[in-house]
Amino acid sequence: MKLALHGATGRMGQAIVRLAHAAEDLQIVGAVCASVDPAQGKDVGELAGVGTLGVIATADLGVGLLGAEVVIDFSTASAAAGLMAVAARERVAIVSGTTNLDAAGRQALEQAAKSVPTLWAPNMSLGIQVLAELVERALRRLDAEYDVEIVEVHHRRKVDAPSGTARRLAEAARSARSSLSEVTGRSGEVGQRRTDEMGVLAVRGGDVVGDHTIHILGPCERLELTHRATSRDLFAHGAVRAARFVHQRKPGLYGMADVLG
Ligand SMILES: NC(=O)c1ccc[n+]([C@@H]2O[C@H](COP(=O)([O-])OP(=O)(O)OC[C@H]3O[C@@H](n4cnc5c(N)ncnc54)[C@H](OP(=O)(O)O)[C@@H]3O)[C@@H](O)[C@H]2O)c1
Repeated sequence: MKLALHGATGRMGQAIVRLAHAAEDLQIVGAVCASVDPAQGKDVGELAGVGTLGVIATADLGVGLLGAEVVIDFSTASAAAGLMAVAARERVAIVSGTTNLDAAGRQALEQAAKSVPTLWAPNMSLGIQVLAELVERALRRLDAEYDVEIVEVHHRRKVDAPSGTARRLAEAARSARSSLSEVTGRSGEVGQRRTDEMGVLAVRGGDVVGDHTIHILGPCERLELTHRATSRDLFAHGAVRAARFVHQRKPGLYGMADVLG
């Protein structure tokens, strides 16, 4: 499978270069970076520490996508929307893990899915997908006497909060209990907790890759469902698995639930 990477010089892009380099059935044919990136013009294999691959980081999307069957995107919300339009035009399947897509980004995703297989997941871990399914199932079984709170922990460099994954888990909770509304912080005289509140709270520090716990708090008992990512490679493995899934599939919008089958 011929792969292009968008956001190729970023942390996730580099993790995927290393993984794809080690896989016999994958060939990196293109690497797109930001126009202001000092790594532009450099070999992405050398940047990732796996030796020369002959693939030069370029800011030109047309050049970067040339000959690719699937593009894997881990970039920024604003850059991802532009990629999707070009990939759809060039008939390159899309796997995007970029979080915090705004309305334009989501629209670009839906538009691209009309022409090419397009998979977007704010968390490429299969474990998180199963966790979302467990949350929904638990809340269908437990009534509104059971309060729901989500706590996520991430490294100190993370710039957004709460995480895209915490929002995804909140969505899973809401699909079981539609009345739940997110509260992203509490301070001062906030009054008693309402039954339709769902705290979605962020802790930041150190080098934590990503922990998510859903607390389900009922009378005389507590249920805690936790996922801990121990390495960024988790997301790279998930993205490559997603790329194998979209390869030669029909156009449409897919998620990790489809990859799990
Ligand atoms: N779905 C998942 O499982 C998952 C897992 C981890 C991360 N993420 C998400 O993936 C995204 C990237 O994460 P990361 O940790 O790899 O961040 P990162 O290290 O900052 O990488 C993002 C890369 O995208 C580049 N970029 C910016 N504008 C671009 C453009 N127009 N064209 C091409 N590349 C461009 C950035 O370049 P500059 O540095 O020059 O701006 C940077 O190299 C974030 O949204 C993050 O939340 C998702």
